Amino acid sequence: MAEIADAPAPQGPLSRIDYTERIPNNVNLSGDRRLQRALEGWQPKFLDWWKTLGPSIPTHDVYLRTAIAVGRDGWAHFDRVPMEQYRWGIFLAERDPDRQVNFGRHKGEPAWQEVPGEYRSELRRLIVIQGDTEPASVEQQRHLGMTAPSLYDMRNLFQVNVEEGRHLWAMVYLLHAHFGRDGREEAEELLKRNSGDYDSPRILGAFNEETTDWLSFFMFTYFTDRDGKYQLGTLKESGFDPLARTCQFMLKEEAHHMFVGTTGVQRTVQRTAELMKQHDTDDIWAHGGIPLSVIQKYLNFQYSVSMDLFGSETSSNVAAYYAAGLKGRWMETRRDDDHVLTDATTQVPVIRDGRIVNETVPLLTALNLDLRNEYAADCATGVKRWNAELEKAGVDARLYLPHEGFNRRVGAFSGHHVLPDGTITDDAAAVAACLPTDEDRARVAGLMVPHHEPGDFAGWISPPAHGINDLPVEYDYVRF
Ligand SMILES: [Fe+2]
Ligand SMILES: [Fe+2]
Repeated sequence: MAEIADAPAPQGPLSRIDYTERIPNNVNLSGDRRLQRALEGWQPKFLDWWKTLGPSIPTHDVYLRTAIAVGRDGWAHFDRVPMEQYRWGIFLAERDPDRQVNFGRHKGEPAWQEVPGEYRSELRRLIVIQGDTEPASVEQQRHLGMTAPSLYDMRNLFQVNVEEGRHLWAMVYLLHAHFGRDGREEAEELLKRNSGDYDSPRILGAFNEETTDWLSFFMFTYFTDRDGKYQLGTLKESGFDPLARTCQFMLKEEAHHMFVGTTGVQRTVQRTAELMKQHDTDDIWAHGGIPLSVIQKYLNFQYSVSMDLFGSETSSNVAAYYAAGLKGRWMETRRDDDHVLTDATTQVPVIRDGRIVNETVPLLTALNLDLRNEYAADCATGVKRWNAELEKAGVDARLYLPHEGFNRRVGAFSGHHVLPDGTITDDAAAVAACLPTDEDRARVAGLMVPHHEPGDFAGWISPPAHGINDLPVEYDYVRF
């Protein structure tokens, strides 16, 4: 895998971002005074939200990456910044003047620069749902800095956090610029709903679960941020061009979040394997490591709640979004079919008479499953990488992805008890036994002792092979 943390030297055409403005942007915000004023009115509310619900550990400055251009390469700049002075802004990928709607009934029309009146409420809904997840994860992760296993890891957490904050900006810009008064109201609501709030929770279930410890953070960035990557991948295909261009740039930032998850779990597994070999036991709690069986339970949990984020296997809404050209498929333009899909069919799993069988349905209604299958295949690549660490250390046990029906609350498998190997059972306790127990979580939490000296690492995780942006691993990435 590429070292995503590094920013390559600039080459190719660049559209510079204007940092002289109060809100950095590459959308010529100063050319639209009304919009600029509206967003400048939202900015202090965002900062209040960041101060109240963003990272809770006080820091002086953090070595962070900031977007400076949206060209093909060289888009990022690294520097020490006090986090509340991070330059959150509005960055859209370059416009392609020839871009068309690439799927659905409007296929071949020029891509829309304005919201088509007939799709206004659907588009607003899609943007609000995406926008709601961005600040949610910052809220879920706000106390993790307190127990960071190193300054390197703390910096990565904060990088993810500031970029999720920027993703909120990305969606709020679209709401303000294209949806008038309703859009501005939705932008306010995005700061009022809060993760886990009893009266006003975040929209999607997985974004109301607390991220309790660093192993769940790494699993979250691996599995749940990856759901985000796939959702953005479908919106990047949208016929509504500003949404497509926004998501294209967000995906660039998202790559680092995947990197944090993949390598975070990998380093945890590496340490676990070392301790297992060294002490010739699976039970490495006493030696300061997280047993592989507990890592598997965390994986089971995060994978299954992330699978729920894709919605039901069949959905008439998703068919309508596709036919309207609002939300495409993963890698839409690289698919070899008519991109209209009116007559195509596919198979979806259903449980009948206690068995999982396939049912044939119109492909258009099964696009959630299509996306989820792409996602699941991608998830498997990281597991392979983690297992390579076990193999390298000479440990026989392996990690695996549980069956798609395991622990599901949404879709065909909800209401059934499916074990990680796909067996359907009546035994709910057998399913629960494959998830982290309160005791597991408490024991993991017990290992989460802060290591806040440069170059110091907690004993449950291996140090990374490289630092950020070619700096040494021992660099003081965060200053207090
Ligand atoms: Fe995001
Ligand atoms: Fe993310």
